[in-house]
Amino acid sequence: MFEKPVPYNVLVVKRVTGVNLLRRVNRILNDPWYVECVERNAICELNRCFCRHDLQHMLDVARITYMIVLEECFIGDVATIGISGNRRPLLKIFDDPGFKDGVTVKSMPGMLMQVKEIIYAAGLLHDMARWVEYETGENHAAAGARMAGEVLDRTGFNNAEQRIISRAICEHRTGGTEAGPLGRYICRADDLARPCSRCAARDECYKISRMETAGALLY
Ligand SMILES: [Fe+2]
Ligand SMILES: [Fe+2]
Repeated sequence: MFEKPVPYNVLVVKRVTGVNLLRRVNRILNDPWYVECVERNAICELNRCFCRHDLQHMLDVARITYMIVLEECFIGDVATIGISGNRRPLLKIFDDPGFKDGVTVKSMPGMLMQVKEIIYAAGLLHDMARWVEYETGENHAAAGARMAGEVLDRTGFNNAEQRIISRAICEHRTGGTEAGPLGRYICRADDLARPCSRCAARDECYKISRMETAGALLY
């Protein structure tokens, strides 16, 4: 009998960075409070004809945010990630007062993995409090930023990482120049994740005229 092979990319990244792939993100997916929030969202949106705030949406936002960040890194600094070891593009993107304190790995691939976990954590958690808005009227961005703290604590994110993630969750509805870099990316990915051009409720949707995906898929 042959031993089950380890996927190639896992071998390479583990060897280079010495970190487990998305270890803390997988903890979020299994966190009981997070799982309960996703279930409560589903119950509240059982009869909703517009966009839902389920796990697939939050995962889409995480993945699209990561795609946008990588694209900007490459375009902004001529594809230097992992080649010259230049970390400036990522530091610039996460130009947050707390971020430099929170960098726990020194190598470029290791830092990329850390940034990836921060992005995925923000994406997965950004709508965890949608059910709170349905039940109490409180803005789900503010409620989510508050509720994400205990999940991030349990799953191993340090204080600097938590500040960046919670701020991004809080800013995910508004974005704009007042928001931090991650908040702006999550806000844009939040819209890009919606397949408006194929939505059955598009004629009733108040956001359709300003949705980038109303005419075509972009990510
Ligand atoms: Fe939201
Ligand atoms: Fe969202």
